[in-house]
Amino acid sequence: MCGIVGYVGKENAVPYLLDGLSRLEYRGYDSAGIAVLTDKGIETEKCTGRVAALRDKAEKHNFSCNLGIGHTRWATHGEVSERNAHPHVSYKGDFAVVHNGIIENYATLRDKLKDEGYAFLSDTDSEVVAHLLERDYNGDLISSLMNTVKKLEGAFALGIICKNLSDTLILIRKESPLVVGKGKDGFYAASDMGALCGVAEESITMNDGEIAVITKEKATFYLSDGNEVFRRFEKSNLCASSAEKGDFPHFMLKEIFEQPSATEHTYRFLSSSGTSSTEELSFLPSLLQTTDRIYIVGCGSAYHTAVAGKYVFEKLTKLPTEAVIASEFCTSSIPVRKNSLCIFVSQSGETADTLSALKKAKEKGATILSVVNVPESSIARKSHKVIYTKAGPEIAVATTKAYSAQLITLYTLAAFSGYYLGVINDGDFRYYMRELSCLPKKIKNILERENEIAEFGKLLSSESSIRFIGRNTDYAAAMEGALKMKEISYIPCEAYPAGELKHGTISLVEKGSITVALCCNDSIFKKTANNIEEIRSRGGDIILITTEKHTEDVTVINRKIIIPDTDDLFVTLLEAIPLQLLAYYTAKEKGCDIDKPRNLAKSVTVE
Ligand code: AGP
Repeated sequence: MCGIVGYVGKENAVPYLLDGLSRLEYRGYDSAGIAVLTDKGIETEKCTGRVAALRDKAEKHNFSCNLGIGHTRWATHGEVSERNAHPHVSYKGDFAVVHNGIIENYATLRDKLKDEGYAFLSDTDSEVVAHLLERDYNGDLISSLMNTVKKLEGAFALGIICKNLSDTLILIRKESPLVVGKGKDGFYAASDMGALCGVAEESITMNDGEIAVITKEKATFYLSDGNEVFRRFEKSNLCASSAEKGDFPHFMLKEIFEQPSATEHTYRFLSSSGTSSTEELSFLPSLLQTTDRIYIVGCGSAYHTAVAGKYVFEKLTKLPTEAVIASEFCTSSIPVRKNSLCIFVSQSGETADTLSALKKAKEKGATILSVVNVPESSIARKSHKVIYTKAGPEIAVATTKAYSAQLITLYTLAAFSGYYLGVINDGDFRYYMRELSCLPKKIKNILERENEIAEFGKLLSSESSIRFIGRNTDYAAAMEGALKMKEISYIPCEAYPAGELKHGTISLVEKGSITVALCCNDSIFKKTANNIEEIRSRGGDIILITTEKHTEDVTVINRKIIIPDTDDLFVTLLEAIPLQLLAYYTAKEKGCDIDKPRNLAKSVTVE
C-alpha cells in the first residue's frame, strides 16, 4: 500500500528518495513520485508504473537539493494516473505533501476550499491537505500545522516540505505508521523500517498524534497539543540482506525456503527449552484464569492461520474458540466481553481492518494479545500482550514464512494454554512439543522435493479454475492454498470443506476439471477419500496431498504429493509448503509478476 519517504541533510536528497521508494515497492503500488526543494522552489516528478521509470525521469533533471519527499501510491481515490500520484502541491506552490491513509472528510473540505477559490488538480483525498497547509500557514509552523491537523478526519501519515522553510522536513502521524532515521549525513523518514535499511543507524517510531520538525541538524518532536516532547533515537537493527534476493529469482521463493529457520526460531523463542516454563509466555497462566472464550482475528492468510488455530485451541484448551475475519468482526455483534481473549494475527502489524477490530475488542474490555511479525508496529503497540513471530522481514506480497511462523506460534500458544489449564497432562504436553519441534525439519524435507512439485505447478498453469478441498485442519490449508494460487497466478480458485461438495459445488465437476485435495488429517482421511472418489467418478482430475502413512491407500491416484506425518492438529503447516510451491510454479509458468501481484499491497492500511 502507499509508502512515504523523506530526506533532509547534507547530501543530495534524490538518490535516497528513489532508493527508499524501491525498498518500499514490496508494499504494493501503482504510481510513484518525488518533490524536492531546489533554488527554483518546489519541483516534482511523477509517473505511473514502477519506481524504475520514476528513476529514469528524475535522473534527467539532475536536481540539486538537500530536502525532499517521495511516495508510492496505491490508488484509493481517483484512477491510477500521474495527476493523482503524490506528492501534491498547494495552490501557490508553497507546500508539497505525501499522504498515506484516508482523509475521510475530504469531500467537505474540498468543497469549502473550492468555494474559497482553490483549484484542484487531482481526484485524491490527499490534495486537500496541501491546500489547507497553505491556507492555514500563519508564520508559526507548529500552530499552523495543528490548525490543519484538527480539520482532518481519518487515519493518516503526512510528509511535508515548504518552499519558505528551506531545510525543514515535516512529518505528522495519526494512526498510519512513520519512522524517522538518523544517518551520518542527515535524517530520513519512511513508512517502514525497510526503507531505512543501510542508511539510518538509529531510528524513532513516531507515536500517534506526533509532529516531527526535522532540519539538517536536529529532529524535534511535538505532541498533538503543540508541546515539545523528548524522543530518543535508538540503535536500529536494520539488515539490508533481508531486502536482497540472493540467488533466488523471486523473494517469494527465497521466503518459502526460509521457512525451516522462520518456524524453528519462532518455536525456540516461545518454548525456550521445550519445558513447561517459558519466559515469553509467562503471562499466560494468569491470563487464562479469567478467559472463558477465545477469538482469533485476522485478514487473508492471517485469518487462515486463525481457522487452523481454532481447531487446535478448541482441542487443547476446551475453550470455545472462533476464527473471525477482521473486517467482519468490526461490523457484527460478536459477543466479546471482559473475559474474552482476542488474539489478533498480523504479519505487518498495520492492517487497518485488524486494527479497527482490535480497537472494538479493546473498547469491550477484552484482553488483546497480538501475534505480529513487525516490531513496533501499530497492532503491537496497541495490544496488552504481543508475541513476535521470528520470520524476519517478508518482502513478497504473498505471505509464506510469516504465515508459517504465525501457525507455529498459535500451535505453541495452544499447547501451553492447554497445559496450564490442566486440559492436557504432562505426557501429552511433551508429545505436542516434540511434534512441534520436528516441524521445521519436516518442512525442509518437503522443500527438497521442489522439482517434483514444480512439475505439478506447470501443469496447473493452463487451468481456468482450481478447486481446493479438505476437512477440518485440511480445510484450513485448502483456504490458504486457494488464496496463494489466486494472488499470484490470477487463476480463479475456491476452497471448500470437502463434505460440502455434494451440497452444491459438485455440479461444477466435469471431465478434466481439477481439484487439489488435502487429505492429511488422519482422523478424517476416509471421509475425504470418499469425496475424492465422488469427484473422480465424475471425470474430475485430482492432485492429492497426503501423508506418508497413507501412501498405500492412494495408489489409484497418479498425481500426488506425499508429505511427512505429523499430528492431525499441525498438518496445516506442512500442507502449506507444497501449496505455496504449487502456486509459485504455476505463476512462474504463466509469467506473472510473482513478488508484486497486480492490485495487491503488502500492508493494507485502508479499511
Ligand atoms: C497473503 O498472501 C496476503 N498478502 C494477505 O491476505 C495478508 O495475509 C492480509 O492482508 C493480512 O496482512 P497482515 O498479516 O499484514 O495483517
